[in-house]
Amino acid sequence: MATHDAPALDVDAIREDFPILERKIGGDVTTPGPDEGDDTPLYYLDNAATSHTPKQVVEAMTEYYYQYNSNVHRGIHSLSQEASVAYEEAHDRAGEFIGTDKREEVVFTKNTTEAFNLIAYTWGLSQLEAGQNIVTTQMEHHASLVSWQQLCEKQGAEVRYVEIDDDGRLDMEDLRANVDDDTAMVSAVHVSNTLGTVNPVSEITDIAHEHGALSFIDGAQAVPTRPVDVKAIDADFYAFSGHKMLGPTGIGVLYGKEHLLEELPPFLVGGSMIRRVKFEGTTWEDLPWKFEAGTPPIAEAVGLTAAIDYLEDIGMEAVQRHEEKLAAYAYDRLSAFEDIEIYGPKTDRGGLVSFNLGGVHAHDLSSILDDHGVAVRAGDHCTQPLHDILDIPASTRASFYLYNTEAEIDELIDGVDTARKLFA
Ligand code: ALA
Repeated sequence: MATHDAPALDVDAIREDFPILERKIGGDVTTPGPDEGDDTPLYYLDNAATSHTPKQVVEAMTEYYYQYNSNVHRGIHSLSQEASVAYEEAHDRAGEFIGTDKREEVVFTKNTTEAFNLIAYTWGLSQLEAGQNIVTTQMEHHASLVSWQQLCEKQGAEVRYVEIDDDGRLDMEDLRANVDDDTAMVSAVHVSNTLGTVNPVSEITDIAHEHGALSFIDGAQAVPTRPVDVKAIDADFYAFSGHKMLGPTGIGVLYGKEHLLEELPPFLVGGSMIRRVKFEGTTWEDLPWKFEAGTPPIAEAVGLTAAIDYLEDIGMEAVQRHEEKLAAYAYDRLSAFEDIEIYGPKTDRGGLVSFNLGGVHAHDLSSILDDHGVAVRAGDHCTQPLHDILDIPASTRASFYLYNTEAEIDELIDGVDTARKLFA
């Protein structure tokens, strides 16, 4: 289904699934949870940092703890078997959600960051050679950028950063110019967490493959907000996090093509990932378990499955349409003010808008917005080099999800107006 044909979301009904959206804030923040000083409604626009969790996800995890909490792949008792089935099926559901039907290609990590570290340490240390290069972009999150930087320092390889143009889109000519026959990996973010730019990841992967390089796509902001098909992209590696897509913290996914994961050494070692340990040496479990050492995030995997069920019931085309509508509305409202600078493209953007209000530091603005109940992220959003390129110390980012409304963006604009008056 094309995104523009997708049905509009029933946001009122969706919001009922998220009790936290009823929270009031404004009182004591030194102890977690509501207190008697809380009197301001919450307008949560910080979804690119972490999304909220619907009752269905919490209930699935509660059911796990109340009914079949047990370690996986270790017991032949009933609870362990039930937990193992749920844990294994979570891999299948996460794989299907991004277009693979192979459980072997779905490795659970702690988050997207760990997925980058896993590939940097396993593929990078065993296969990247001195004199080769990794091509990435100026808009990468630190999780990716610093992983490649550290790896290349260790291996005597070079990191190249593809430039962005004045609109905050990737300069594809520069990308083509940087990728050569010494390129071992091309790594790009699918949807920028700061600019909102949606990168042409299939084309990027094609360019990598033309030169015999691999591709690693950072899907942390893409998988929660749009349909993603790793096979259509032909990505070699692709990563995302559960907590940005209605799931719990502590679980992320590394997708990798089976034949590539197969030839990599393990990342972390310990229980679960071994087949046979002898004093003389050890052999490894099959994929994906070879990369999942120790007791894994079992409750979190159950929660991730429930989050995927929730998103699939709504439909990812409809989620994307809603995101795009809110981003366009926020962009239009913010761009009506001459003292506001917005970063990233006007069109074809993900569901977030980063901006600065002239003369007001993003931290001050964010603090005033918090007084209005509006939760945004302020700072460098883990993209310091990108902020250097933009020549700003920080920015304020409003990011939207399926439960947000235009009325909440109006609250953001009111808060910005208050800041403008205060700092005038
Ligand atoms: N990567 C997350 C963000 O963009 C934390 O806010």
